[in-house]
Amino acid sequence: MELIEGTTRIIVPQGKPTKRMEAFYNPLMGIQRSVTIALLKSLGRKMRIADPLAGTGVRAARLMNESSEVVKEIICNDANPNAVEYVKQNFFGRVENTDANVFLHSNGAFDFVDIDPFGSPVPFLDSACQSLSLGGILALTATDTAALAGSAVQACKRKYWAMPLNNEYKHETGIRILIRKAQLIASQYEKSLVPIYCHLGTHYVRVFLREEGAVRDIFKQHGYIHHCFRCLKREVKQLNVPERCCNAPMSVAGPLWTGRLWDDVLAKTVAVEAEKVDESIIKLARTIADESAVDAVGIYSLPKIASKYKLAVPKMDLFLSKITGVRSHFAKQSVRTTDPYDRLIEAFKTL
Ligand SMILES: C[S@@+](CC[C@H](N)C(=O)[O-])C[C@H]1O[C@@H](n2cnc3c(N)ncnc32)[C@H](O)[C@@H]1O
Ligand SMILES: [Zn+2]
Repeated sequence: MELIEGTTRIIVPQGKPTKRMEAFYNPLMGIQRSVTIALLKSLGRKMRIADPLAGTGVRAARLMNESSEVVKEIICNDANPNAVEYVKQNFFGRVENTDANVFLHSNGAFDFVDIDPFGSPVPFLDSACQSLSLGGILALTATDTAALAGSAVQACKRKYWAMPLNNEYKHETGIRILIRKAQLIASQYEKSLVPIYCHLGTHYVRVFLREEGAVRDIFKQHGYIHHCFRCLKREVKQLNVPERCCNAPMSVAGPLWTGRLWDDVLAKTVAVEAEKVDESIIKLARTIADESAVDAVGIYSLPKIASKYKLAVPKMDLFLSKITGVRSHFAKQSVRTTDPYDRLIEAFKTL
């Protein structure tokens, strides 16, 4: 059937999005594709782009149609021959029909590599990192949020070599775990990946990383989050030896990336570009633009604090007027703040 996503007309199979469909298309992921377009427009330079898991080719079609000014070349690929037939109807460029790793190993260097798999991007990290040019951008989607966000702990350890934590900022922890894993893989090839943008969507996380060469010592920003489930206090530490809080050992997540999740200047530009790309991402992009300015690990959920301390949930604007912080896009009624934990709880209690 024919439909319009963004401003691009595409042909996709009918039916609910499942792995078994003729060629995979999920309209909910339109948001993620729109953010990608806004981000590439914000970077504002011509790029050689790889779409190794292209599905119907909707991403490449939209990039070509809605951000042609940043496209030097796009090459599509999908292992599913039926998907490739859809790509050919939607995208008038090169398309291959092979394994994504083979594709990435045999097409030279790319300025933008978009890994949008079923589940985890881990099986494609090695080839993606190798094919990335200096200054190039690696985009990763992960839909295996059970592993990254702590409901499948063993899967997280196996795939991402880290301990997740199932709490109110579990998705942020998952993103930080994914970032570190990508950084470890890239470092094998003398490459440094620095996160420049990320967001949480419905059942997925999305991260953009920039390759900044061999010189960046990013490992110094790998560490652990220590969290107390009893009082909600959290701390970032280099070591994973749990200290005690509220008469019990704190829970530990990591190793993970403890540095910034966004380039705040870029995030502001993305919010401006979002207005031109897709009105349904404007609010998200603006919230992230504000959030990107606050260099803090972990968000605070107002309902969570309220239930812990048996208090009413305050109005968000009122609470924000009492602290140094902003709304977080990671969860409704949540804030990102650089205020120390004690001051935050004190402010909460005065409302
Ligand atoms: C989540 S879908 C991609 C959706 C697409 N990027 C979009 O924006 O609509 C994942 C795609 O990867 C393809 N795929 C899965 N494993 C693959 C592999 N090893 N090599 C190449 N393609 C693969 C599937 O056929 C499927 O089309
Ligand atoms: Zn405590």
